[in-house]
Amino acid sequence: MDDLDTELARLRRDHLYRWRRLLNGPQGVHPVIDGRRMLSFCSNDYLGLAAHPAVVEALREGALRFGAGSGAAHLVSGHGEAHRRLEQQLAEFVGRPRALLFSAGYMANLGVIQSLTGRGQQVFADRLNHASLTDGVRLSGARLHRYPHCDPPALERLMAGRGTAMIATDGVFSMDGDLAPLPELARLARAAGAWLMVDDAHGLGVLGAAGRGTLELLRLGLEQVPILVGTLGKAFGTFGAFVAGSESLIETLIQRARAYIYTTALPPAVAHATSTALDIADREPWRREHLRALISRFREGARSLGLPLAESDTPIQPLIAGDALLALEWSRYLDDRNVLVTAIRPPTVRPGSARLRITFSAAHQEQDVDHLLALIGDLPRREPAATPRPL
Ligand SMILES: Cc1ncc(COP(=O)(O)O)c(C=O)c1O
Repeated sequence: MDDLDTELARLRRDHLYRWRRLLNGPQGVHPVIDGRRMLSFCSNDYLGLAAHPAVVEALREGALRFGAGSGAAHLVSGHGEAHRRLEQQLAEFVGRPRALLFSAGYMANLGVIQSLTGRGQQVFADRLNHASLTDGVRLSGARLHRYPHCDPPALERLMAGRGTAMIATDGVFSMDGDLAPLPELARLARAAGAWLMVDDAHGLGVLGAAGRGTLELLRLGLEQVPILVGTLGKAFGTFGAFVAGSESLIETLIQRARAYIYTTALPPAVAHATSTALDIADREPWRREHLRALISRFREGARSLGLPLAESDTPIQPLIAGDALLALEWSRYLDDRNVLVTAIRPPTVRPGSARLRITFSAAHQEQDVDHLLALIGDLPRREPAATPRPL
């Protein structure tokens, strides 16, 4: 027990201690947090659907029709018509033969990698991939090779003579907002006879004219990217995840994916609400267009302020502080002015690359972006104080 306290004290001392804020009410761009109304730039509710009245109403209606919980795993008796309809809708949305719902993106990534790779096999993963992809490889027992971020030539050198089972990557990198070099990765995977798995948690619903994500933007299909993972708790505003691919891929996952088999099915009301969210994402392209306009406005404004911009045209716009303490101070500076942008620190990002992860939502207005720009233009640039004020 002493060891735990020592470790917690170390995290505090190194400015790496994490804590939770309390959301009093729905997610949105003006949430009430710890009793205070804020202007928020740090949710993944990119299309503004998490508290959309029609989605909330569908959740209520779904609960009345299907109950509060599924009561069992999919393979026992928990798989219902709301799940089936959503799977069909998701498969159509991404233009693939089939989709399989998982309870969370984290679990989808564990399930896919554990089902398709194993001991004695080699899996190659971008160094900045989401933790769930890394953990999936660990769980599978395959050997994990992490290649330098978005560096296909380095990957090719690493793969040489090794026999590759899978290349796994984020589509949009969750903390940086940049895109994976998918055409090159697809070529390498094909040449090696390996799976290419793309986790497009942050691209789906947002990128491409129709919101089909990074693959739409880069014009890639099932041939180039046989495994597509999407999450439902980000642009679609609800919860859960899916894998989309061929019939045989989905059937294999149903037989083998432990994170699918040994867990309770998603509440059917959530699946029902997600169907409505997907309809809205489809029917209302203005959300994506508005979001794109906000991102451009932010980038132009940041450029004219001389702020360092990341290589990102997505709603994820990191502002790198480097030092964890400075990132905390920046977050605190904004917090004091009722603007919420949490500091992202190691181990979520590499040491020395702590940042504000600014995200935009279709629910933001232009004046929100201007307000943020005015504040970040004045962020303290000095050396951080030795001891931060408690947050
Ligand atoms: C790239 C990526 N994949 C997977 C996940 C996990 O998805 P979920 O929150 O549905 O578990 C996240 C974040 O949550 C993510 O950013």
